Order: sequence, then C-alpha cells, then structure tokens
Amino acid sequence: KTIALLTGGTTGEWVVSVKSAATIIQNIDADLYDVYKIMLNDKGWFYEPADSIKIEIDKNDFSLTLEGRKIKFDGVFIAIHGSPGEDGKLQGYFDMLNIPYTTCDALTSSITMNKGYTKAIVEGIDHLYTAKSVQIFKDGNYDINQIKQNLRLPYFVKPNSGGSSIGMSKVKHADDLENALEKAFQEDSQVLIEEFVSGREFSIGVFSAKGKITVLPTTEVIPTNEFFDFEAKYTPGSTQEITPGNMSDEEYSRVHQIVKDIYKKLNCRGIVRIDYFLEHETGKFYFIEINTIPGQTATSFIPQQVAAMGLTLKQFYADLMKETIG
Ligand code: DAL
Ligand code: MG
Repeated sequence: KTIALLTGGTTGEWVVSVKSAATIIQNIDADLYDVYKIMLNDKGWFYEPADSIKIEIDKNDFSLTLEGRKIKFDGVFIAIHGSPGEDGKLQGYFDMLNIPYTTCDALTSSITMNKGYTKAIVEGIDHLYTAKSVQIFKDGNYDINQIKQNLRLPYFVKPNSGGSSIGMSKVKHADDLENALEKAFQEDSQVLIEEFVSGREFSIGVFSAKGKITVLPTTEVIPTNEFFDFEAKYTPGSTQEITPGNMSDEEYSRVHQIVKDIYKKLNCRGIVRIDYFLEHETGKFYFIEINTIPGQTATSFIPQQVAAMGLTLKQFYADLMKETIG
C-alpha cells in the first residue's frame, strides 16, 4: 500500500509534529507500506525527497507526480498536532476524496480540539469531574471582575484549541489574569479559564481495534516546573514520568471505565490520549482534555506506554494502520 505521512501544520505545535513523524517513519513496516512523508505548512503541501527537491501536492486529488508518474495514496497517516491535522479540517478533506486516515473522524476531531465544548460533552459520564471554568471569546463581552469573583485562584488560562501548553499560564494572583488572557488570545480566539485542581497528574492512551477498546498503561507526570509546560514536555529528563503510574486497584478500574466511556461517548477512532488529575484529598477523576493525535516524539507518553505494554512501536503502528486504513 502507498501511504502519505502528513506532518508540519500551521500552529506552534508544528515542531512537535515533525518529531512525531520522525518516530513514525522509523517504525512503519516497509514491507507492508510504501511511505511518502509530506510536509504541510503555510507555504504549501510538499513532498521533499531530498534537500533541494520539492514536489507540490495536487490538492484536487491529493496526488503527486514523480518522474512523470502520478502517485495516489491508499491511506494517510496524519501526524499533525493542532490545525489542520487534529481539528477536523484534513479529515473533512480526505472524507470528500474517499481516502482513509488514521485518526478520529472530522466531527470528533473538531469538537475535541475545543477543550470547553469537549468538557460539556463528557460531563455526564459516571465518576467524571471537570474543573469549574469559564470559556470566553475574543470579541465577546466578558466581565473580568465577575470571572474573578466566580472562580477560585489559582487559574489555568488556556487557548481553548491549543496544544503542548503553548500560550498557557498558571495564574496565582488575580492581577495577573489580564496578561494571561492577552497571551492566550494571541494563540486562539477562544480562551478557557479553569480553576486549578490539586491532584496527581496522569495521561493515558486509549486505542480501539476490531471492536475492542484497549487502555494503555497510564503515565504519572511529576513536573519540576510550575506546571507541565512546553519545556517540561519536550526536554528529556526535565520531568519525572512514571509508566505505569502507581494507582490503587480501585483507581485503576475506575479510571479504565471512565476513559473507555469517554472514548465511546466522543466516538473516537484509532489512538487517543486522555489527560486527567486524581484529586489529592478525594481521589476524584478530573478530566483535563483529550488529544486525538497524541505526540509520538521520543519524550511523548504513547511510545512509553506502548513499550510498557510489551509491544514495539512497529507492531503498534501496524495495528493502528490496519484498523484505520486497512
Ligand atoms: N498536543 C501534544 C502533541 C500531545 O498531546 O502529545
Ligand atoms: Mg494537548
């Protein structure tokens, strides 16, 4: 089969996407798949077989022409975090061309890119809690004093469709909220202001194949920075990451049930990763967010969790591709 591995993207996460694609291309079974890595960014969509060669993709049918030969693709492995890979845009495009891809569908991708809307959907799930929050819009009317009155400090201020903590702040003093909002609005037209949850932070991969949902070993994250920010996410050794993280039997089975319910309720496909807290005092599960194209870099959680499961990344990506693109 001929496969396109799409990387790059148009947000600050494009650097992460390039690293994820590097892991993926090293671990795709070359006997089964003929892979073309395609870079997508503000300048266009290109296949770059060598430094000085750039072949533009024909967007009418997502093909490329190489030495007079037209190459079409049987499937697409999307390794773009953020827009336009994780937010449904490319999914809609490939649906229209009838080309299968490795991720959730267009609707699930676009909803889950919006942290606020996703919270509203998962909120009804048994034993699942979410931090109290306010979602505001750049050109909308919001009353900053009312927000300060309604939410308890500290806050997490997040670009609502952001990833990798870009544009995000932890606000400990109410006076710092304005600056945090300005920073977040530089990344997105919507911002989520959430109450801080005091708890242990975890992340867990969930994958479905042949109608069965598999939960990967969870990772516990112990950041040394104020929170698990961009630097902590991608600087090896800057964060303590324990896979499998330590949970009691009760927590283990509760978390597994909750994340399976989230996967089903959001109609997910392929591999996703759910970030959550277990609150210190109560052990309650607080949903943070779901990533429908989780990072595959050397410091990302999914490769660690796959290894902890006793699988190689080669086997894992082969299973993912077989399930989603055949
Ligand atoms: N948004 C980053 C890539 C992740 O979730 O792993
Ligand atoms: Mg994320």
